[in-house]
Amino acid sequence: MHTLTPTSSRKRIIFTALAVLLMYSSPPSNSYAATPPPTYLGSLACQPCHADEYRRFITYAKKSHSFESIERLRHGLTAKEIEGCYRCHTTGYGKRGGFVSLAATPQLKDAGCEVCHGPGSNHAATGDPSAIKSQLDKEDCEACHTSDRVAAFRFKPLIHGGAH
Ligand code: HEC
Ligand code: HEC
Ligand code: HEC
Ligand code: HEC
Repeated sequence: MHTLTPTSSRKRIIFTALAVLLMYSSPPSNSYAATPPPTYLGSLACQPCHADEYRRFITYAKKSHSFESIERLRHGLTAKEIEGCYRCHTTGYGKRGGFVSLAATPQLKDAGCEVCHGPGSNHAATGDPSAIKSQLDKEDCEACHTSDRVAAFRFKPLIHGGAH
């Protein structure tokens, strides 16, 4: 007969604890357990499926040519100072799969769709709306716009300003 010795019951407890830990540390079962974390694609990659948002963004949002603002002022700035501009004027600088340099990642040089909606590679591959961020908050703007400024342009009415 198999009886539980103190050792095997302790093992079992440890095993159960591990299993529970694993269960809770893995993503919910209906999400993309096998999908790698998303990376940045650049706004042009969104155009085929979101032609209207893309057209309005390119036409009206200053973000869509925000790299030009750096170019405009770069004279007299050190390389390090210019790098400091990338955090807000490009897409995903300093983040996984984000802007690195004009030569390496030209598609991410401006602040594009993904500065608000987050990295979109998984969503763009499937069109699955749950794979992209759509509920945005004040905090999503404050990474680049100071909270004073966000309050000044009154987030709610102007949330589409700067977007599409
Ligand atoms: C292959 C087509 C395709 C591409 C490429 C694509 N999308 Fe989508 N997107 C969809 C579909 C389909 C939906 C769901 C239907 C709808 O709302 O139009 C959607 C919905 C969305 C939504 C709303 C999500 C919601 O919860 O309602 C956002 C935001 C979005 N896309 C952003 C993006 C961004 C940003 C990109 C580029 C990085 C992008 N999409 C690229 C097909 C695409
Ligand atoms: C990654 C940084 C970043 C994030 C996040 C960001 N912005 Fe911006 N935004 C900019 C930059 C940079 C400009 C100025 C571009 C230029 O003129 O070169 C700008 C410009 C604007 C403008 C000026 C008007 C125009 O025509 O573009 C508005 C309004 C604006 N953003 C709203 C928002 C809102 C609302 C959010 C949050 C939902 C947001 N932004 C998130 C970087 C960001
Ligand atoms: C913390 C985020 C942040 C950093 C860092 C940053 N910017 Fe900006 N920049 C913005 C935002 C946001 C705006 C839009 C201001 C508004 O309209 O509210 C802007 C606007 C501008 C504009 C004005 C564009 C216009 O049409 O009036 C220029 C030029 C500019 N930035 C250049 C630079 C340069 C050059 C650097 C680096 C030395 C830099 N910025 C660093 C966030 C940033
Ligand atoms: C400044 C932030 C910002 C940028 C940049 C931005 N969006 Fe959005 N997007 C929003 C907000 C805010 C909503 C509305 C969410 C809501 O209704 O609560 C939205 C909604 C959407 C939706 C849902 C349908 C709709 O139009 O309401 C799609 C699709 C979408 N965005 C695609 C894009 C694409 C494609 C780009 C780039 C070409 C882009 N967005 C750039 C902030 C942004």
